[in-house]
Amino acid sequence: VHETVLRDETVALLAPAPGKRFVDGTLGGGGHAEALLKAGAEVIGLDRDPRALAAARERLAGFPKLRTVQSNYSEMAERLAADNVWPVDGILLDLGVSSPQLDEADRGFSFSKEGPLDMRMGDTGLTAAEHLEQATEPELVQVLKVWGEEPFARPIARELKRALPKTTFEAAEAVKRAVPRKAWPNKIHVATRTFQALRIWVNGELTALDHFLEIFPGLIRVGGRVAVISFHSLEDRRVKEAFRGLEGRCICPPGLPVCGCGARGSFKVLTKKSVQPSDAERERNPRSRSARLRAVEKVR
Ligand SMILES: C[S@@+](CC[C@H](N)C(=O)[O-])C[C@H]1O[C@@H](n2cnc3c(N)ncnc32)[C@H](O)[C@@H]1O
Repeated sequence: VHETVLRDETVALLAPAPGKRFVDGTLGGGGHAEALLKAGAEVIGLDRDPRALAAARERLAGFPKLRTVQSNYSEMAERLAADNVWPVDGILLDLGVSSPQLDEADRGFSFSKEGPLDMRMGDTGLTAAEHLEQATEPELVQVLKVWGEEPFARPIARELKRALPKTTFEAAEAVKRAVPRKAWPNKIHVATRTFQALRIWVNGELTALDHFLEIFPGLIRVGGRVAVISFHSLEDRRVKEAFRGLEGRCICPPGLPVCGCGARGSFKVLTKKSVQPSDAERERNPRSRSARLRAVEKVR
């Protein structure tokens, strides 16, 4: 079961009420959606993972105002337009993987559970093992450097290309061979960054987020809100910059001595600093520790 992260904080920022329509772009176990539905709102829940959708549908069977769609959230505009249900009053993204995805060995996300090196959240596209076969070593170095921020990207890429692992354990062993024992990190498993990078790559996670951050302003009505929970700095940085950018950039022609446009953006940032889990939540749910919540409201 997935333990919902920052549930109350997120719901307070989204301000659900009867008559309002929300899109939960990462429905997962349905924990956030349930809170929105309980407040009387309508929810359109998207997830690319058919298993997650089935579990959420079962959990939320008592809520007729829930509609579920198997979809990448980056295709949200097309989905809403197809059903003629936009603009909406709010959108939520709770990024990353869910606990069932991490915990089910056959999904191949975890270096501590033996399974096929798959890592796909959905049921389409290449698995991680297939990506490793097809990529060149320099491509793999970039993946590990950029998406894993892995200092040993080169030797790990060399070893992964040599070994072409087919299982999670084989991949973790390849990383262990590539990194000198004395350089293994103290607090995290030596394969953590590699697994993060492969997961982001296989699922096109940052591409989806970048696309969403470009298109969401057109999907929201004035007064509507958008909340995003991210789990690593690559995501949080993008969300922070996109939200700030919408708050009001000067659009005067270059060369004007003073700003004449008033630099009024159409959004207001509701979280000057990101909202983080309380000590009690971190204690209860260690997976919440890296969560950062940011939200904006469309004001004009
Ligand atoms: C952290 S879980 C969401 C948990 C949920 N908020 C809850 O409280 O139960 C993230 C979910 O988002 C889905 N997901 C991740 N990226 C996605 C994408 N680009 N499009 C659609 N679903 C995605 C995953 O399959 C996973 O089920």
